[in-house]
Amino acid sequence: MSKVPFGPTYEEMLNRSLLPKEIKEKAKAARKDELNDLNLFNISWEDEEGEINKIVLPKELTGVDANIVVMLGRYFPSGSHKVGPAYSTLIEGYIDKEIMPSEHTILGPSTGNFGIGVSYICNLMGYDAIVIMPDNMSNERYERISKYGAKLDLTPGSESDVILTLERTYELMKDPKNKALAQFELLPNYRFHRHVTGNSCVRAVEGIGNGRIAAFASAPGSAGTLAAGDMIKAVFPEAKVVALEPYECSTLTNGGIGQHRIEGIGDKMITLIHNVLTTDFITMIRDEDCVKGLKIIQDGTDILVENGVDRKIAESLKDMFGVSGMCNIIGAIKTAKSLNLGPNDNVVTVATDGFDRYYSVLDDLSGRYLEIEDFVLRRWFDDVFKSIGTDMIKDVRGSEEKEVLFKRKEEDWLKFGYSKEYLDSMKSMEFWDNEYNKHKYYDEKILELREEIK
Ligand SMILES: Cc1ncc(COP(=O)(O)O)c(C=O)c1O
Repeated sequence: MSKVPFGPTYEEMLNRSLLPKEIKEKAKAARKDELNDLNLFNISWEDEEGEINKIVLPKELTGVDANIVVMLGRYFPSGSHKVGPAYSTLIEGYIDKEIMPSEHTILGPSTGNFGIGVSYICNLMGYDAIVIMPDNMSNERYERISKYGAKLDLTPGSESDVILTLERTYELMKDPKNKALAQFELLPNYRFHRHVTGNSCVRAVEGIGNGRIAAFASAPGSAGTLAAGDMIKAVFPEAKVVALEPYECSTLTNGGIGQHRIEGIGDKMITLIHNVLTTDFITMIRDEDCVKGLKIIQDGTDILVENGVDRKIAESLKDMFGVSGMCNIIGAIKTAKSLNLGPNDNVVTVATDGFDRYYSVLDDLSGRYLEIEDFVLRRWFDDVFKSIGTDMIKDVRGSEEKEVLFKRKEEDWLKFGYSKEYLDSMKSMEFWDNEYNKHKYYDEKILELREEIK
């Protein structure tokens, strides 16, 4: 296990046409073999033709005039875009000579997808890995992590108990051999999403509506994805950024905490890398609506058709989203309604992964209802999609609201050893711009590494 890590630059992940032709061709062939390390060069929102993987949802489903554009994370190697931040954090750590293969074991605190990304990336780049996650997540997650060869270190609880995984990570880090890819606090996660996801969102709306982005809606776990909003705002200053969270765990809205069913989001804290300066609204979404919405997409094709969705399109939606993807879709529709957006306007959101890791979630839903017949799905379609309102939205653009968010962030992070001074520096956009600009330095270093290997 001592491969030399090498892979794409941030710029190449955004635009794969910049990859050397030979690497691009080999990476294309590697898609058939998941564990071929050339798949590192397939970390991108682009497909082989250079188009962004996305779906524009049918209006018969969304019920709004605005275009709801969903970027699809399931086409990333390992099945979710979380592999991007995992790679970026590891390669930056290697460049900084802090994380070396054979010498260090990688820790990946996660509720699942980041853990899958970490175990996958460590497999490709030759690192041992331990994923620290709650013991009550969907089975599909544990299976994948084990398949990619990482060890599991389980802490009690579920989605909302991510703080326990962080505490366990800090404990394991006392051994200098262990290095954490700390997605909640390390800025490569921010850099990946601001540069790669943000610019991919900008490209995703080309030729749709007015070609601009009116709003970006995303439910934070680590809040990495939300950083795409910083790029979107730089390109389209009128754009609004909407953070979504489970109604059952309303941490951003009012400090509330609780258990919920939307795996990957709503982690009971304001993460260190969440740039709250650019978050305009916080919207709560009910977890049961997300699970029922997913059931309709997977098993309710006839109901969608009855409501006017073209059958082929209804079929094509299957397998594209997970539970948090449904949360983001419901949140995007809510956003379009609350901002009174019209047919020229675009709301962009993200489906982090696809349905392949949620069979057990729909099994659980079936277990909770006697029988889910068509008349039940019909009612759920009305409840979940037709009844989307403009309630449970909080405007956090004002300075008082920002202060509340800063204060909570302080409470969450002083205890992990971050100084007040550092946390205060995050109150300025300059901090985020400086951090973002570091992607250029790392890109140069990655290219130098590749030259050395040649
Ligand atoms: C399924 C799923 N959705 C959403 C998210 C949230 O993404 P981010 O961590 O970039 O905020 C995650 C994060 O792990 C996830 O696994």
